[in-house]
Amino acid sequence: MRTCFLALILTVTSVAAAPSSVRECQHKVKETINPPRGWTKVKPAPADHTIELRIGLPQSNFALLEQDLYQVSDPFHERYGAHLSKEEVDALIAPQAESVDLVDEWLASHGIATEQLSRSSARDWIKIKVPVSLVEDMLKTEYHVWVHEESGEAMVRTTSYSLPEYLLDHVDVIQPTTMFARFKGQATSYWFAEGERPVVDLSQPYIPIPSAYNGEVNASCNGSITPTCLKELYNAVGYVPQAADKNHIACTGYLDQYADFEDFKLFNEALVPEAANSTFEVIYINGGENSQNLSDAGIEADLDTQYAFGLTYPTPRTFYTTGGSPPYIPDDHTPENSNEPYANWLEYIMNVENPPQTISTSYGDDEQTVPESYAKRVCAELAQLGARGVSLIFSSGDYGVGDGDPNPATQQCYTNNGLNETRFIPEFPATCPYVTAVGATWYLPERAYYISGGGFSNYFARPWWQNYAVPTYLDKLAPGTYAGLYNASGRAIPDVSAQGQWFKIFVGGEEIYIGGTSAAAPTTAAMVSLLNDARLANGLSPLGYLNPFIYAIGQYAPKALNDITVGNNPGCGTEGFNATVGWDPVTGYGTPNFYNLKDVALGNLTAIRELL
Ligand SMILES: *[C@@H]1O[C@H](CO)[C@@H](O)[C@H](O)[C@H]1NC(C)=O
Ligand SMILES: *[C@@H]1O[C@H](CO)[C@@H](O)[C@H](O)[C@H]1NC(C)=O
Ligand SMILES: *[C@@H]1O[C@H](CO)[C@@H](O)[C@H](O)[C@H]1NC(C)=O
Ligand SMILES: *[C@@H]1O[C@H](CO)[C@@H](O)[C@H](O)[C@H]1NC(C)=O
Ligand SMILES: *[C@@H]1O[C@H](CO)[C@@H](O)[C@H](O)[C@H]1NC(C)=O
Ligand SMILES: *[C@@H]1O[C@H](CO)[C@@H](O)[C@H](O)[C@H]1NC(C)=O
Ligand SMILES: *[C@@H]1O[C@H](CO)[C@@H](O)[C@H](O)[C@H]1NC(C)=O
Ligand SMILES: *[C@@H]1O[C@H](CO)[C@@H](O)[C@H](O)[C@H]1NC(C)=O
Repeated sequence: MRTCFLALILTVTSVAAAPSSVRECQHKVKETINPPRGWTKVKPAPADHTIELRIGLPQSNFALLEQDLYQVSDPFHERYGAHLSKEEVDALIAPQAESVDLVDEWLASHGIATEQLSRSSARDWIKIKVPVSLVEDMLKTEYHVWVHEESGEAMVRTTSYSLPEYLLDHVDVIQPTTMFARFKGQATSYWFAEGERPVVDLSQPYIPIPSAYNGEVNASCNGSITPTCLKELYNAVGYVPQAADKNHIACTGYLDQYADFEDFKLFNEALVPEAANSTFEVIYINGGENSQNLSDAGIEADLDTQYAFGLTYPTPRTFYTTGGSPPYIPDDHTPENSNEPYANWLEYIMNVENPPQTISTSYGDDEQTVPESYAKRVCAELAQLGARGVSLIFSSGDYGVGDGDPNPATQQCYTNNGLNETRFIPEFPATCPYVTAVGATWYLPERAYYISGGGFSNYFARPWWQNYAVPTYLDKLAPGTYAGLYNASGRAIPDVSAQGQWFKIFVGGEEIYIGGTSAAAPTTAAMVSLLNDARLANGLSPLGYLNPFIYAIGQYAPKALNDITVGNNPGCGTEGFNATVGWDPVTGYGTPNFYNLKDVALGNLTAIRELL
């Protein structure tokens, strides 16, 4: 008995077959979640509200894809750098024909014809627009309008859905159903007025920093970060990109964050004069916009573009603006509101034949607001980009070990598992092992910035490349430290860090200072892009998925990263973790030393190990 459709025919034609057919046809719960704190169920969703449903079919060979990803990203492996093509990746993740057929039949039984579906190129995702009334019937569920108390934002969601039993193994995820995450930019909460900025001590022109370019950094940088400061501090002064014909860097923008060209020009004129006339490409996804009315300029978008692109001029650069996030208005039957702009961006980028080699994202949300099944699936998409040679850089979050409450003193960090326990709350997508999570430092000499998001995933297990770094750190903790508050066997974040406060930017024509791991992510992405430039100019592949490379450096070539050993990341009523010698869940392996990293990236780790 393959489908309910067939089962129903049998039910009427053969009474004897009915009981077993009906059983075959029975729905079983696929997923149930507890709604994240702060969301209130307001009323049933309007029956004619349209949902853009994404159905993820199981990827037949993800284990092989992951093995390929790790081999081509492991600097000690003979396949290092031999990235896969889009076609090779698609072939590995293509679902079984049986899954495709069964899901198609099921959709057809609900009157959804194949012409109404759109499919990803690997056929592992199906997208359809359907009214709430039909989805409720298909998934034996009820959608409601949910409102987020603090922001007033509304979503049409459910907390549980079912599938015919025979489909359970042929469908991984269906969303939007149980997905309540609100991906947030990481910059906006750390805006400081000029008067709050520390007074820069200019009694000495330079601050000695042995790892910096020429061993010193302009004293003005201690409280006012510019691209010049970052190049001095991270030992990148004078590097001129050579591979502008091949290299490409990008930043993603969501939530109506517009990157302003006039602000970009003001920034470059003031701080990167050689780039004064430069601009950037904008790609509009899913109705995304990029208003050039100065009063619409976005702090996050301006910060990301000014630093990612200002530091890498003249490397070609793209800003992706993805729509799909305007607040859903419960009574306005907005036909296409997915509240899931990240899925729209992923769908777009997976189809690009040659995506930018380095992509920076400064958005995320508490891991527990993303259902585990969906987090795993999104993470698997990110692995595919890594296998194709893309370095994905994410900010690690701005709340230390805690939740989204910016005041560590009032953070309660309740779990969402129905038990109402207090637990450290890591941030997704930073916790996905296939991306590089970036924490924040501040001041000179550098120390951990207390907001730096760090900790351990509750969804993703510790990957092999953390098998030296993380146990080494955990061994240093006093026995019983934070027992029950974090998952010691989880993927730990961040991987690296960079400066994350007092960044001078231009927004709406005005100079302001801004911070957050949002600033650290584009800074790190810029350094990675310059390393890719050096590799491409030397006929090598781009670095691609970075983590095995980063952890090999941390272990064998530690002078290529500046170890941060001072500071901690409080949250949930605790002092959080401490920065220590070596890797720690506050600053990872530390901040970049560009020229040393370039030596490693151009040589090989075996050679470096012999040198150090
Ligand atoms: C330090 O930076 C400030 C601000 O950019 C600049 O005016 C000054 O000339 C720099 N000092 C030195 C010694 O380079
Ligand atoms: C940099 O500023 C911080 C904060 O004001 C201060 O603690 C530190 O001593 C300063 N560094 C130097 C080298 O003056
Ligand atoms: C920018 O363009 C102006 C006007 O064409 C030109 O005078 C100036 O030299 C250019 N600046 C740079 C850095 O290319
Ligand atoms: C720019 O935005 C402001 C504030 O929303 C608005 O008053 C103004 O009319 C807009 N200007 C243009 C040219 O659209
Ligand atoms: C969780 O516990 C806290 C403190 O005991 C309490 O204030 C809160 O109402 C509880 N929340 C739920 C959903 O039970
Ligand atoms: C801890 O992480 C492991 C590995 O990802 C996972 O299986 C387990 O459920 C997690 N434990 C908790 C309490 O979240
Ligand atoms: C952090 O360091 C302080 C000072 O040495 C120490 O008292 C505290 O126990 C450490 N915290 C953790 C979580 O290791
Ligand atoms: C890496 O360096 C080692 C030591 O210098 C050398 O023996 C080896 O051939 C190098 N490998 C590659 C792939 O260049």
